[in-house]
Amino acid sequence: MKAVVIRTFGAPEGLEVVDLPVPAPGPGQVRVATEAIGVGGVDAVIRRATIGGLGLKEGHLLGSEVAGVVEAVGEGVDASWKGRRVWAFTGLTGGYAERAVAAVEDVLPLPEGLTPAQAVTLGGSAVVAHFALERARFAPGESVLVRGAAGSIGIAAVQLAAQGGAGAVAVTTSSSERGGRLRDLGATHVLDRAGGGGPDAPEGFDVVIDVVGGPGLPGFLDRLNPNGRYLIVGVVGGQLPADFGTPLVTGFRRSLTFATLSLDTVPGPERQAVRAAQFAEAARGGLRTAVHEVLPLTEAAAAHRAMDEGTVFGRIVLVP
Ligand SMILES: NC(=O)c1ccc[n+]([C@@H]2O[C@H](COP(=O)([O-])OP(=O)(O)OC[C@H]3O[C@@H](n4cnc5c(N)ncnc54)[C@H](OP(=O)(O)O)[C@@H]3O)[C@@H](O)[C@H]2O)c1
Repeated sequence: MKAVVIRTFGAPEGLEVVDLPVPAPGPGQVRVATEAIGVGGVDAVIRRATIGGLGLKEGHLLGSEVAGVVEAVGEGVDASWKGRRVWAFTGLTGGYAERAVAAVEDVLPLPEGLTPAQAVTLGGSAVVAHFALERARFAPGESVLVRGAAGSIGIAAVQLAAQGGAGAVAVTTSSSERGGRLRDLGATHVLDRAGGGGPDAPEGFDVVIDVVGGPGLPGFLDRLNPNGRYLIVGVVGGQLPADFGTPLVTGFRRSLTFATLSLDTVPGPERQAVRAAQFAEAARGGLRTAVHEVLPLTEAAAAHRAMDEGTVFGRIVLVP
């Protein structure tokens, strides 16, 4: 089968199309013939190798979410999965390929009306937005800032905050065109990447959902209202400064909260229940997806170049 691996970490040109053996599903796994493969911000973070600690090696097969048809099941998996069109989470590896394996607990049937491309734009992301807002104890009437809102996680967070009755939903983005699209999805204030440019935006926010991290994070921590909650869910802007915590402690009397959220710590059945509800909502049109572009799997490097150039709104989808 055709697959895309990282031959050299760093630039998109380090991605290589290779032929690999078709994987056999292990116990508890299914094998999916892929029809859509999501190109996530996490894939770019892995490829750039700007964040250490993942211990991945050259030859790493990228990709963590796919949609397609189950064609084989491993030991212990009900044969009735065969032939079903599903979304599947493959972990940190295995998605950029014509065939992918996933644990059956991480597989969800697609509802009528949700395309495979929409599913891989929503499946791994909207659920992050849901649990980030939940962990931030977001309540109706509160002001929310979504930093890095033009990606799949941000696009979902904007819609969920607006639908949840936020008093204001501010976003950071690098283009006014994307700002307009985010307004369409429920944003009330559009800021630039540094947090400026929204003349009538609130000075402070009750909740910040941050997909970006990077050196600019402290400036946004300063924007929390007293009792404000800051949830970082991604690091597409790179590493945080070595000491961003001191202002939190010196600002002790403002009772601020800084927290990380990884879906890895959300129990699987809870994740799947929220995801299933979001899929159903998206199929009804209540939750919108942003498929930026559909490209052949063999053009994965072009997809990554677009991610690096910052021209992607939502998600690029690869098709085998
Ligand atoms: N917490 C979890 O469980 C979980 C699960 C999945 C993924 N993730 C993480 O979430 C991140 C990917 O999310 P995503 O796919 O929604 O993001 P994305 O599409 O890669 O990026 C979101 C937006 O951030 C902005 N951006 C990019 N680089 C930036 C920079 N250097 N400075 C400021 N803004 C920048 C861009 O918008 P503009 O150009 O418009 O500013 C971009 O559209 C990854 O870090 C991944 O590891 C976390």
